[in-house]
Amino acid sequence: MVDKRKLPKKNLMVGNWKMNANHLEAIQMTQKLSFRLSEDDYDRIDVVVCPPFTALRSVQILIETDRLDVQLGAQNAHWEEKGAFTGEVSAPMLAKLGVRYVICGHSERRQYFGETDATVNRRVKAVLAAAMTPVVCVGETLEQREAEETEAIVVGQLKGGLSGVDPSELAGFAIAYEPVWAIGTGRNASADDAGAVCQLIRETITNLGGDETGAQIRILYGGSVNAGNIKGLMAKRHIDGALVGGASLDPDTFAAVCRYWG
Ligand code: 13P
Repeated sequence: MVDKRKLPKKNLMVGNWKMNANHLEAIQMTQKLSFRLSEDDYDRIDVVVCPPFTALRSVQILIETDRLDVQLGAQNAHWEEKGAFTGEVSAPMLAKLGVRYVICGHSERRQYFGETDATVNRRVKAVLAAAMTPVVCVGETLEQREAEETEAIVVGQLKGGLSGVDPSELAGFAIAYEPVWAIGTGRNASADDAGAVCQLIRETITNLGGDETGAQIRILYGGSVNAGNIKGLMAKRHIDGALVGGASLDPDTFAAVCRYWG
């Protein structure tokens, strides 16, 4: 069997649609995005869309019937497999729908829905158990940045979110650095600042899982990414992709972000 960790690493572009797009809109958005990307593009990047739960089935059918190279992601997953958890969706349910990536611990979940490092950790383990890839989000608030706590916050969120995960699994993860003050504000971190925190993330993962794991894990930047700033961000050695909110809702713009080298 091919050890995927030995394959050359592709950059990863994830569109987080948040609470936008009904299932009909999601089908159109996915179709348009895929029309704008070519086979050559997919040689360089993995492209993932994360629609709301209500659109996953429709987008799955589209991807499978039209054999699209766009991959499916979800925005969250509960840690239990099933049971009396009204309103929740489990990791095995998502895996069954062809979902390959699951965002864990997005700052909006931390801010509005009581997400903690401990619950992020439980979600991460459930996503792994269902053979999907966790996209673990970390990032400091403006207050924390101004108090020069960025490093401590990011390392603490990583250690908490990844606690007890077998280090051999970490190579397949994606970690997204999303400074809270840069999300949806139009104010992105400078490429230098984002690159420096992504380097810190790589060092932390290397300490946890060793050199090869540190080299293989994909580290994304997120926060007001757009077609104008992506190239500068991707030029940074430790940035392997992006987690894109607003700019992923327009297929033309998201395709331009994905083709960052163009
Ligand atoms: P924006 O790209 O809209 O700033 O959102 C970033 C984000 O939160 C992606 O998960």
